[in-house]
Parts: sequence; structure tokens; C-alpha cells
Amino acid sequence: MARGRSANGRAVQVEDTKICVVMVGLPARGKSYIAQRAQRYLQWLSIDAKTFNVGNYRRTDAPHPSADFFDISNVEGERRRRAAAEAAIADMLGWFRQGGVIGILDATNSTKERRKWVYDVCSAEGIEVLFVESKCDNEELIMANIRDVKTTSPDYKGQDPEKAAQDFRNRIQMYEKVYKSIDEDGDESHLTYLKILDIGAQVVINRIQDYLQSRVVYYLMNLHIRPRSVWLSRHGESMYNLDGRIGGDADLSPRGHAYARKLPELVRKSVGDDRPLTVWTSTLKRTIQTARFLPSNYNQLQWKALDELDAGTCDGMTYQEIKDAYPEDFVARDEDKYNYRYRGGESYRDVVIRLEPIIMELERSEDILIVTHQAILRCIYAYFMKKDQTRSPWMNVPLHCLIKLTPRAYGTDEERYQADIPAVSTWRGKGSTAKHEDPGPGANI
Ligand code: ATP
Ligand code: F6P
Repeated sequence: MARGRSANGRAVQVEDTKICVVMVGLPARGKSYIAQRAQRYLQWLSIDAKTFNVGNYRRTDAPHPSADFFDISNVEGERRRRAAAEAAIADMLGWFRQGGVIGILDATNSTKERRKWVYDVCSAEGIEVLFVESKCDNEELIMANIRDVKTTSPDYKGQDPEKAAQDFRNRIQMYEKVYKSIDEDGDESHLTYLKILDIGAQVVINRIQDYLQSRVVYYLMNLHIRPRSVWLSRHGESMYNLDGRIGGDADLSPRGHAYARKLPELVRKSVGDDRPLTVWTSTLKRTIQTARFLPSNYNQLQWKALDELDAGTCDGMTYQEIKDAYPEDFVARDEDKYNYRYRGGESYRDVVIRLEPIIMELERSEDILIVTHQAILRCIYAYFMKKDQTRSPWMNVPLHCLIKLTPRAYGTDEERYQADIPAVSTWRGKGSTAKHEDPGPGANI
């Protein structure tokens, strides 16, 4: 049974599904990139997912192999590579037995024999197999991938990058001798697979079986690798922020309006040139007011899904008023802030679910500036920065600060641009009912 928890912390996700996502493709085709993205997305949705990278297992036995190690006629090399794959699969099966839901087997799996073996082993344990192949023949891109991530791999530690790149190209040739794209010969049509051709220019989907598989497939279909950034800002300080009131639809305070006027300059500085951004706001006045001085050639779009976490019956109250009216709820929220659902309102977990289309659209898009609210920004930030969902609701996101996130091959870079305009702090520590509190360094995750 897939493990997932309801907003109240009870198990609800009853899909009787375990899936092994088996990566397929020649080296330097973005398999690890895709595997890591899938894992991050699933973990963000609280779906138990883990990647098993066969290269890491091989490295414990053969840390710095040269290209001929990967030659199919190298008997010793073949034996050790097979042993690494066996060890990774054994660990993955053990992890599935303990309740894992989506295991990602990150290896080339480039022959029909290897795929049949993985398929048989998983099927015998009742695990569905979804093959995800990345096929790409763009020489320039492959060379860039080698330069960007392969010459710095632990395989080539301490080696001259030029020699490392040449050896890696030789390694690719070894694989090319035996590589078969999935169903190339027409005898793998019984397999479930997603084939991503030329970084998504074309995709081929075969025999997708259930909801969870289709979600993974849809997500992976939306990925692209064009350079871009995502800018995040909370709205300027609002009249409710000054009072320590949550929710509502208040106007900006005078300092909040000053931030709105300052925002175009901050954005320009962080973009570095004149290219226009697309701006997403919520439907609430404070984000729309914050975005209103941005240049007129920026497209603006309002999303209901970006509205602040709905505090239900507590909307418009201060934390002290909530504690007085609902003392048990106040304690319950501090105990499990991610799962606590306001009476008649939402939990952080609910917010993540409603943000899924936003994440999907963000993955498809290029440069986007999002002006939104404290809880929403925490959830989006947690997605990009892979933050633990139990901690992200406690994260300090100051007002009047622009965050620039730039996705890279294996992570996301972050820069912050603080406007020189004071604002109250709306961060609240466990147990506190203070209207405004100093977050201290521990709150910055
Ligand atoms: P190896 O078999 O050596 O482990 P790999 O296929 O796992 O190689 P990655 O390490 O994931 O390759 O390569 C990362 C690079 O691939 C990144 O620079 C990323 O931009 C790029 N990339 C991501 N997706 C694709 C894709 N669909 N096709 C080609 N390159 C991609
Ligand atoms: O205080 C500002 C605010 O955006 C409220 O409208 C919202 O309820 C709150 O932050 C979310 O933060 P927390 O989850 O820490 O209460």
C-alpha cells in the first residue's frame, strides 16, 4: 500500500501501488538529472521515493575505471558491473519491502537482457515497472553535458578535464556497441515506458497503467533544460501584518507600497538585463498591489492557487486570539504544523496539493516572477530547494526580500536581494503568540 498521510495525519493514499522507475539510455543523456527531479517532485508530494544509482555501487568496487572497463568483452568488467547492479536492486527490493512506493533505478539499462532481468525481478515481487528512456543524439549537447557534469564526476577525481572528457566519450562508444533503444526491435511492446526524445521534442508513451504512473509521466514530460530562473517575493508589508493578523485581504501598509515601488529596481538588478518576465500573483489585493509598478511589458497573471493558506474560522485573527479561542488547536498546530488543518480551512499539506498545477506550469515555463504569500512561498521554495516538509512551515521568509532561484544540473542556486525598506517580521516560533518576533538564525532553513 502506498504510504501517504491525510491533512490530519492519517494514512489515506490507498493506491496499492509500488513502482520501479527504470532509467534507460546511453551515458550523459540526463538520466540522473531526470531521476533526481522525479524523486524531488514525489518527495515534495510526500510520496516515498528513493533513487538507487548503480554508478555509486560500482564506485565502491571500481572507483576510477577507464573506458575499457565498460567494454562488453571485458569479462572482469562485466562481472563487476553486474555485481553493482545486483547490489543496487537488492537494496531497492529491501526498501520496497519496508514500504517504499517509487524506487528509481538509475543506470543505463541499455540492453534488452538487462531490462528483462530487472522487469522479471520486480514483477516477481509485485512491483510495477516503468521504463523511462532518454534518447538524444545532439552532439553539442552531449559534449556540454560531459563538460558540465562528467569531467567533475568522482570517476575522474584529480584527472585532467580534457583527458576525462575523451575517456568519457570512449565510454559512451563502449555502450553504443550494445545499446538498444526500448522496443526498437518491436519485441518490448509489452513493457510500460516513456521515451523522451531530444529533451522532450518528442515523447513516446506505451502502456501507462495507473494514476501514479501517469502523474510521473506527465511531470517528466514537462521538464526542460533551457536556462531560466524563478523569482519569489512575498507581497509588501500589509495592514494586517502590522497588526499581527493572519489571512484576510488587506491593503499594503505605506512601507508595503514603498516595497512595491522598489520591486522593479530589485528585479532589474537580479535579472541583469532587460528581458521581460512573466509575473504570477495571487488574487488577493496585497500581491496585486505589490506587482503593479512592474514594467508594462511584463505579462501578469492572477492564480487563485497562489492565495494564502486558508485559515478558516481563524481568518483575520491574531495568534493570541487564536490561542484564546481555540487553545487545543493552537497546540496541535505547533505539534504538527505541516499536517494541521485550520477549522474550515487548510493545512500546509493541502496547500502543496493545490500548488501541484503551479509546479507543473513552472516546470514548463521559463523566467517567472511569483509574488505571493508566506505559506505559499515556503511550499514552492521547499520544492526547489528539496526542504523537509516537516521543517518548511517554520522557515523564515522575510518581507521585502526578492529570492532568485536558478535550477542547475543537480541542484538549485539561490540569491537573495533585500530591499532597504523596513517591515515587521511575521515569523512565529513554536508556542509564541507575539505579534512580531525576531526569527533568529535557526529559522533560516
Ligand atoms: P551517466 O549514464 O553517466 O550516469 P546520465 O545519463 O545519468 O549519465 P546526467 O548525469 O543526468 O547523465 O547528465 C546531466 C546533464 O544532462 C545535465 O547537464 C542536464 O542538463 C542534461 N539533461 C537533462 N535532461 C536531458 C535530456 N532529456 N537529454 C539530454 N540531456 C539532458
Ligand atoms: O502572517 C502572514 C501570513 O501570510 C498569514 O496570512 C498566514 O496565515 C500566515 O502568514 C502563514 O504563516 P504560518 O503558517 O507560520 O502561520
